[in-house]
Amino acid sequence: MSNKIRIVGISGSLRGESYNTAALRAAAELAPPNVELQIADLADIPLYNQELRDRELPAAVTQLSDAIAAADAVLFATPEYNYSIPGVLKNAIDWVSRQSPQPLAGKPAAVMSASMGMLGGVRAHYDLRKILVYLDVHFINKPEVMIAQAQQKFDASGALVDEMTRDFVRQQIAALCDWAERLQRG
Ligand code: FNR
Repeated sequence: MSNKIRIVGISGSLRGESYNTAALRAAAELAPPNVELQIADLADIPLYNQELRDRELPAAVTQLSDAIAAADAVLFATPEYNYSIPGVLKNAIDWVSRQSPQPLAGKPAAVMSASMGMLGGVRAHYDLRKILVYLDVHFINKPEVMIAQAQQKFDASGALVDEMTRDFVRQQIAALCDWAERLQRG
């Protein structure tokens, strides 16, 4: 029997009806049975300020860092804001990056994006990958998951209903688990 794989899902959107957060919920649903996927909450992470950090690390930052440290892999789902990742996500990464040990170092990861536009937010993928090179994250390359015209792929309750997209999400989470297991074996 396969070992349990713990994945932390990080959404770049704080919206309750976020398509990206909904994509993470879909990944949890479509993941292999040995996967436990918990979605992190970035809502209470303040804007990065070195003085704030020196005074007392915000609890939300500790929670996110601990969740990443305890996870076997990280699954990002990010909107594209003005051709890049949202400030909310960059800010959370910036906080985590100042932790020692830095919890993202060596983590297997994958990225998906959802957008109401035609390109599915793909330009955010490459910015996220670039940022996380510095933090020594090991992304899978394929399959790439960009959910274009997201308003047509999710229903009103936020369920991912487009079969082709469900297949991509299923394949990506399986590939991420495979990658995590390969890195664990060394
Ligand atoms: C956007 N949006 C957007 N979409 C896109 O495909 N490319 C882009 O560059 C941008 N830029 C952008 C900037 C800002 C400030 C906002 C608020 C929005 C639209 C965006 O993809 C859309 O709102 C998504 O639905 C956001 O993701 P969530 O919140 O549904 O996960």
